[in-house]
Amino acid sequence: MERIYFDHAATTPLHPDVLQAMTDSMHQVFGNASSVHAFGREAKLALNQARDSIAAQLGCQPQELVFTSGGTEGDNAAIFGAAWSAWLQQSSETAAQLGSSGDASARKPHIVTTQLEHHAVLHACERLEQLGFEVTYVAPDQMGRVSVEAIEAALRPHTCLISVMYGNNEVGTLQPIEEIGRLARERGILMHTDAVQVLGHLKLELHALPVDFASFSAHKINGPKGVGVLYARAGVHWDPLLYGGSQERKRRAGTENAAGIAGMAKAMEIANGSLPAKLEELAQVRSTLWTELSAVLGDRVVMNGHPTEHLPHILNVSFLDVPTETMLMNLDLAGIMASSGSACTSGSLELSHVLEAMDLPDERKRTAVRFSFGLGNTREEAACAAQQIATIVSRVRTRQ
Ligand SMILES: Cc1ncc(COP(=O)(O)O)c(C=O)c1O
Repeated sequence: MERIYFDHAATTPLHPDVLQAMTDSMHQVFGNASSVHAFGREAKLALNQARDSIAAQLGCQPQELVFTSGGTEGDNAAIFGAAWSAWLQQSSETAAQLGSSGDASARKPHIVTTQLEHHAVLHACERLEQLGFEVTYVAPDQMGRVSVEAIEAALRPHTCLISVMYGNNEVGTLQPIEEIGRLARERGILMHTDAVQVLGHLKLELHALPVDFASFSAHKINGPKGVGVLYARAGVHWDPLLYGGSQERKRRAGTENAAGIAGMAKAMEIANGSLPAKLEELAQVRSTLWTELSAVLGDRVVMNGHPTEHLPHILNVSFLDVPTETMLMNLDLAGIMASSGSACTSGSLELSHVLEAMDLPDERKRTAVRFSFGLGNTREEAACAAQQIATIVSRVRTRQ
């Protein structure tokens, strides 16, 4: 059975050239980049080359990049880092005013985020709430888009950070990051964006974008798992998550994952080098699947997300006659890998927090499936998957 992988938003296969870059790194430059001897200097040089290359791809300065273990760490570092830093600054200002060592009971800073963030952001914010910070979770519209007005309405005098994802990992909706960033700048508030899903799918020029932090991950663009990068604009104050050695200019202690970083740089070169062609291919695969599905299922299939402002590689649809779990199980049996955005607890799927936030009708929430495309996918695969899905739907309907 030919297997079809339509789950690239979860993770992607390693590109062969990335694997080569990583094995070369492991064989040829195994030194510790903090060592002063020749092997250490060679490792440091390789690290700097990777940093320069990634900075050039992202349109920022190399020293504005901090290597991390992936998107989750980048999100946590930006959110906790900005929140702690604002709290410390506020405490020392209060201390200076009161002439004491600060007032621990003073109101902690406020953070604005959205209800459709990845759990790496949501759970970090929930933890901050437990620690006494205030957080507002802005609701999106039914297409999964938050408005600048809604973000503005959520701001408070003591808001220290706005964190809004660039492109949603479940429904693919893009957020108006430039406008929200401009608002943040006007108000003197730090701005973070989780850009994990836009990497390799949108040309990014970070210096032209009014954001202070942006998190990225390598494994969504045919790079290795467990490595990512956090952009932290020069001059921005934030507290590191990890303490120890002086790596990453004391912003992220720990010996660098040299092979992973070499792999990420290579994956980004490949992704950006072929961006126009890749976008064209993704658009064809996505539209083939959608067109074929609509042709066979008519109004029993509905697209979730924004019709125009969406990531090129994600298609989220509800098969109104088939619960998500049933569809995913049948797809798996047919060799088609797709997913729901929801977590699986005790063998049953929880409803997706993103679809909940979009306030979709129940039957759409219970029947949603995410298809996500990438390297190697073809229109033929999309057409074949649509046929298989049509068969699954009619089989399930006759059993009902
Ligand atoms: C939008 C988004 N943010 C963050 C992450 C977490 O990234 P990582 O798996 O590198 O920790 C993911 C991965 O699923 C994601 O899609």
